[in-house]
Amino acid sequence: MSVFSVLRSKLIKFSPHLMEKQERCKKCNIKCGLIKVSPDVLRSLEDGFQKLSESDSKSLLKKYLTRQVFDELKQKKTSFGSSLLDCVQSGFHNHDSGVGVYAPDPEAYVVFSSLFNPIIQDYHIGFGPEHKHPKLDWGDISSIENLDPSGEHIISTRVRCGRSLEGYPFNPCLTEDQYREIEEKMIKIFNTMTGELEGAYKDLLTMSKEEQNKLIDDHYLFKEGDRFLKSANASRFWPIGRGIYLNNNKTFLVWVNEEDHLRIISMQPGGDIASVYNRMIEGVHFLEQNLTFARSPRFGFLTFCPTNLGTTIRASVHIRIPKLSSNKEKLNSIAEKYHLQVRGTRGEHTDSEDGVFDISNKRRLGLTEADAIREMQDGILEILRIEQSFH
Ligand code: ADP
Ligand code: ARG
Repeated sequence: MSVFSVLRSKLIKFSPHLMEKQERCKKCNIKCGLIKVSPDVLRSLEDGFQKLSESDSKSLLKKYLTRQVFDELKQKKTSFGSSLLDCVQSGFHNHDSGVGVYAPDPEAYVVFSSLFNPIIQDYHIGFGPEHKHPKLDWGDISSIENLDPSGEHIISTRVRCGRSLEGYPFNPCLTEDQYREIEEKMIKIFNTMTGELEGAYKDLLTMSKEEQNKLIDDHYLFKEGDRFLKSANASRFWPIGRGIYLNNNKTFLVWVNEEDHLRIISMQPGGDIASVYNRMIEGVHFLEQNLTFARSPRFGFLTFCPTNLGTTIRASVHIRIPKLSSNKEKLNSIAEKYHLQVRGTRGEHTDSEDGVFDISNKRRLGLTEADAIREMQDGILEILRIEQSFH
């Protein structure tokens, strides 16, 4: 590679507007073929592709990264300088991934659409390339019922959504200064929260290990060292810029700069999903008075992982179902029928402890917020009905 082309690619990486005079790609309408992918990146791509093909990985990445798609995409870059490797390296390193891809920046969903589209369609159950995410609709909260009024099965309920701040790329492209800048911006806003949402921000940088572990064990804080995020290049400068806002009642939380710029979370003991959901919406409304969230006409709210696009809503219960817990096949078949996802007690990629599962809606894209909550509610009510029918 000549000195000139190295300089040019560096300049374009940091100043995408320099590409303005260049031609746009007919397929993705972005100048995706202009910055050369380096021979090292191409070698890592070929090597990772070969190893994944020979593995018994069940990931969506392996399913949809055919040789044809790989050859079509391996030379492309977004105007942030992200290559196919930035999208797939987590799935290349972790063959036990369920999905295996992340979008290093918002353009990646378009430039690498031949890979993202079928993965999105599979995960979000039928959201095809011709589909558009519907307009935001929180729905009628008064129609949502308590999922377990007797309190016998549901230990707690949590609803979260993810938000990206417009004008910033996702984790792998954020600079150290941008991490600090986002955190500072958020602290200013958190300091103005009042009423039920009033609380305090704790940054990870100065938090003691004991406090961090207690917050993780109590299900408030994200875990440390997620290997899927790490190999996606999403943990650079950790713990700089990362932290958690907690209201005084510990029922409203915001994660800053973990997987997404923001995760807005509401949770409380029991099955009163209407109160939990309502509090999360209140929090979102407050934050959006001061921030602009990145939203695409096709994908709704934009997130780092394609599984979270659209509504970005994951509404979950921690539920004790001893009978179904000893009949996993039945539990999985109900989950599949009702579009639910079953996780372990400590979240994603963990096991169930004492027969307690984390069960939530699976899809978040192609349906409204109200639909996502309804989908979870219908599925959980069915699970409880079946659990109670065993005697
Ligand atoms: P998400 O992708 O929604 O952030 P994770 O699977 O990473 O979820 O879990 C994050 C934390 O939230 C974990 O500690 C998990 O146990 C906790 N959690 C999830 N759902 C509930 C719930 N209904 N009640 C209590 N804690 C929950
Ligand atoms: N990349 C991981 C996998 O494929 C996680 C996917 C979904 N979860 C998430 N936190 N984005 O298994």
